[in-house]
Amino acid sequence: MEKVLIVDDAELNRELLCDILKGDYAVEMASDGEEALGKLKKYEKETAAILLDLRMPKIDGFTVIAKMRQNGWLKHIPVLIISSEHAVEIEAHCFELGVSDFIHKPFESSIVKNRVKNAIELFACKNQLEQTVEEQALTLKKQYQIIQIQAEKLREAKPFNLLMMEYRSAISEVETKLKVLNEEFSQEYNRNPFESIKSRLKSPQSIYEKLERKGFPVTVESIRENLADVAGLRVICSFPDDIYRLAELFCQQDDIVLIRRKDYIHNPKPNGYRSLHLILDVPIFLSGGKKYMKVEVQFRTIAMDFWASLEHKLKYKKDVKDTDEIVEQLKSCADSIERLDYQMQEIRNKIDRSSFLSCLRQEDPA
Ligand code: GTP
Ligand code: MG
Repeated sequence: MEKVLIVDDAELNRELLCDILKGDYAVEMASDGEEALGKLKKYEKETAAILLDLRMPKIDGFTVIAKMRQNGWLKHIPVLIISSEHAVEIEAHCFELGVSDFIHKPFESSIVKNRVKNAIELFACKNQLEQTVEEQALTLKKQYQIIQIQAEKLREAKPFNLLMMEYRSAISEVETKLKVLNEEFSQEYNRNPFESIKSRLKSPQSIYEKLERKGFPVTVESIRENLADVAGLRVICSFPDDIYRLAELFCQQDDIVLIRRKDYIHNPKPNGYRSLHLILDVPIFLSGGKKYMKVEVQFRTIAMDFWASLEHKLKYKKDVKDTDEIVEQLKSCADSIERLDYQMQEIRNKIDRSSFLSCLRQEDPA
């Protein structure tokens, strides 16, 4: 129940008003200004209105109003003056001070109730409105900050776009090198070390988010220095041993610098994720000369790619909780996929051996 504070040095007035209001509010009483201020301090949040006499011993009503203003209470607690006959000038002055209404003697129950109720409701609306305005001002401030960031970004747009062009060139370089190897293999050995290549340039939004998350500055230089996966390629192979052969041949090329190698095939992640990740420095050739760009290349089998794409979709796209059951099932699928990959590799090796033997037999019929 909301509190109403009745402040009057005349006990009779306090009792009369208390009788009228006690059915609707938790009534607090004070017999002078000092006591009233003490109670306001204690019950500031719960007090919905104060009924205040002007003439009182120690601290009078005017001083109470002044103190309430000082403490910021006048903004959210309506003050109704308990008046005998006051001069019009005094009433006008009270309104100037921020008083909400007057309750005249003799007290008429329904008038008192309604005046108090109206003052409280009006203040509730006013407070609600002020809060909305405050929230809107905050939103506007945030929007302004976002605009400032965007403007900053726009100013950097040219160097940023240049950098993205460089990453795109690095992706093309890697793609070409891999395609050349694939072509050579299909001519020489009649097989393809990889099935397909996917590439992607990290979006400005996820670049921004990753830099923020890792606490790096959001600048073009910082992207170049701190992010290794802006240019990303995924090479999908049929068999696990193709992955290692292809990665080795690729890294042997004398213009490629291997920065980091993460072998999640031999050391899978606890969730079952298996891929070979290479972070490389790849040269691109611009009008101004050679430049090295960081590129992340992930090698996976078709089956591992199927698992990783699905796991990523299930985990990140949907708002699903990572329950023990889902974690367990995904891990069990990843383990089945590993067995399947090596079984298929075994079958391919058998087929290769038998075709090799039949070739030998054909060459040497004796
Ligand atoms: P990021 O900050 O995400 O780049 O991770 P990291 O720097 O620790 O490198 P990591 O080699 O672990 O992961 C690089 C990328 O591999 C990720 O951005 C994903 O594309 C992929 N990846 C790594 N772990 C998982 C996984 O558990 N599930 C799936 N689906 N993809 C993964
Ligand atoms: Mg990444």
